[in-house]
Formats: sequence, structure tokens, C-alpha cells
Amino acid sequence: MTEPKKEIILSGIRATGNLHIGNYFGALRKFVAVQNDYDCNFFIADLHALTTNPDPEQLHANVKSVLAEYLAAGLDPEKSTIYVQSDVPETTEMYLLLNMHVGIGELMRTVSFKDKARKALGLSPENDEEDIEKQVCGSDTGRRVNAGLLTYPTLMAADILIHKATKVPVGKDQLQHLELTRRFARRFNSFYNVDLFPEPYDFDFGGAPIKVPGLDGSGKMGKSEGNCIYLVDDPKVLRKKVMRAVTDEGPQTPDSQMSEPIANLFTLLELTSTPDVVEHFRKAYADCSIRYGDLKKQLAEDILAVTTPIRERVNDILADDGYLAKVLAAGAERARERAAATLSEMRHVMGIRKF
Ligand code: ADP
Ligand code: TRP
Repeated sequence: MTEPKKEIILSGIRATGNLHIGNYFGALRKFVAVQNDYDCNFFIADLHALTTNPDPEQLHANVKSVLAEYLAAGLDPEKSTIYVQSDVPETTEMYLLLNMHVGIGELMRTVSFKDKARKALGLSPENDEEDIEKQVCGSDTGRRVNAGLLTYPTLMAADILIHKATKVPVGKDQLQHLELTRRFARRFNSFYNVDLFPEPYDFDFGGAPIKVPGLDGSGKMGKSEGNCIYLVDDPKVLRKKVMRAVTDEGPQTPDSQMSEPIANLFTLLELTSTPDVVEHFRKAYADCSIRYGDLKKQLAEDILAVTTPIRERVNDILADDGYLAKVLAAGAERARERAAATLSEMRHVMGIRKF
């Protein structure tokens, strides 16, 4: 009897630097957990990293470090297809084809585009879509926002649809991009009256995708926020970062509501500590006996328990160029096989010459 086909999982992380615990809890931990049960494909998004024009040497180094960190965290090339985005050029052709059915307006309304455009233009969060549009269309300021940034969601849709993936493990900030991918897939299918692309959904083993907060009081942990705890931070550095976390003056009355910085500390504690430890500090907060210093010490040790085994493996992996090259060559070959098949169907549907 032949086994039923496994559902296809696809996800990637941009090659923009070392991975932090937001990447780990939002994405990488899930990649590792699903390897046995699904048809898994994980890539390093070097083309998406190009949207912010990195230094070429830095991009080379970042692709290698993300790969080493994937492997150190437990991704197994025997179980998962692991590849670099630019090694599968079928994706970029599909990106071009998909763009023929994507509206400039819907891309300009994407939250991630507005955030990045604001940054590139030196605008503040108060500046609305109209301000951004005016500057983007301006002859002086316009060129600061490149077209790759605008079409970022199309490339992400191509990454997913080229595998016909249905499950995409990502953090909360990527949900809008997934929504767009579903819209593009539906639009393509209905325009050509085909059933080529399935609609992909986020995947978090039944839970909702999370946002790992930073320790600077508000917002998410992210490379561009400069508030990251990296998987490869050495214990001294990591403890220092946690001990410096923003707090408040402490609860003044029993059962009072937590301020955002304290709620963020508890979010991290819930991700890394055992339920009894979390319960202990919750009770201490509720009866006003909590000492934030104790909570931070505990949190730092519990984060280290997660990151230490990864950090300890990374250097050996980084030193083995031969092994890394082999993993990527095998991954690219496997990924391209399916990518070529999907692209060929797409070209046929669109009427691109075949003879
Ligand atoms: P960054 O936001 O640091 O630049 P990426 O955009 O490359 O990182 O994110 C790669 C993956 O990690 C995505 O699935 C994203 O949702 C997830 N991720 C990044 N930061 C966080 C966070 N703070 N909380 C949860 N998931 C996150
Ligand atoms: N946009 C994602 C991020 O910034 C990275 C990414 C690119 C991705 N292509 C993807 C994630 C396809 C999931 C599926 O984190």
C-alpha cells in the first residue's frame, strides 16, 4: 500500500544577521518540531534580504550563519529540504509572472511596506498612506524606496506557491503576507479557471502565531529594532541584556494590572520556563512581593537553557564548509525539481510558448 502524501510545509527566514529568540520561538522551533510528520522545506531568504541593499560581503556571511544556525537548532537535511532562495531561480520567474496579477495599490497598503518606506523616507508613524505615496512618487525622494520592497509580498507568495505548500510556520508579523498569498492564489486560479494553487495558512500546531516582545519595554523583538537576544549570545552578554530589561516601580496594590514591560517579561518567561516557575512569579506579582531582579535572573537562566546547546554546536558547523555546501546542493536539487514542475504548469496555463 502506498503511503498517503504528506502535507507540504514551507518557510524561510531572511539572511539579515544572526537569529534571535523571536525568530526561534516564532519560526525555527516550529520548523524543527514538524520535520518527522510533513513534507518540509525551509530556505534562507537571500533575495528578500536584498530589498534593503545589504553589503555583499555581509550577505554572503549571513546566508552561511543562518544555515549554520538552522542546523545547530536541529533542522535535519535528511528530513527537510534546506536551500537558499536564490539557488531556485524558478521562484524569481514565478515572481515575475505573478506580478502580472498583483495590484500596485494592494502592495502599497501592506503594513510591512509602509513601515519600511517610512523608514527609508525618514517619515514618522504618524505619516499616513497619502504622505508615503506623495514621497514615493516624488522625483527626489521616490528612488529611496525600491520596487523590490514594494513587491516583497509577491516574492514571498512565489516562495510558497512554487511548492504548493499549504502550511507556513511563521510569526505573527507575517500573517498579512500570507493573506496576500492566498488572495494571489485565488485570483490566479479564477482568472485562468484552473485549480493550480492551494491556499496556504499559517501553522502553529493549533495555537495562534506569536509575537516575541523585546526587553526594551514595548514592541516586538526584531533585528531592525536593535533589541535582540541572539541564539549565539554568550552567557555573559545574554545575562546582561536580560538584567537590563525595562521594568516599572512594581505593583502597588494586590492583583493590579501589569504594565507592558512587565507583561513582556512574563511572555518570555512563559516561553522559556516551566509552568510552576511562571506560577510562582505570577503569584508574587499578584501579592506585591515580586522582586524583578529575581525574575530576570531566572529568565536569563531559562533562556540560556534553550540557547546554549545551539550556541555550542554552531561553531563546529560553521567550520565545515564542505558539509554546508553539500547540504545546500542537495537541498537546491530537491527544491528545484518541484519548482520546475509548478513553473512549467504555470507557464502553460498563462499561454507562454512551449514549442
Ligand atoms: P526580523 O523581524 O528580526 O528581521 P525576519 O523578518 O527574517 O526577522 O523573521 C523570520 C521569521 O521569524 C518570521 O517567521 C517572523 O515572523 C519570525 N519572527 C521575527 N521576529 C519575531 C518576533 N519578535 N516574534 C515572533 N516571531 C518573529
Ligand atoms: N517574509 C518573511 C520574513 O520576513 C521571510 C519569508 C520570505 C518567508 N519568504 C517566505 C516566510 C515564505 C515564509 C514563507 O520573515
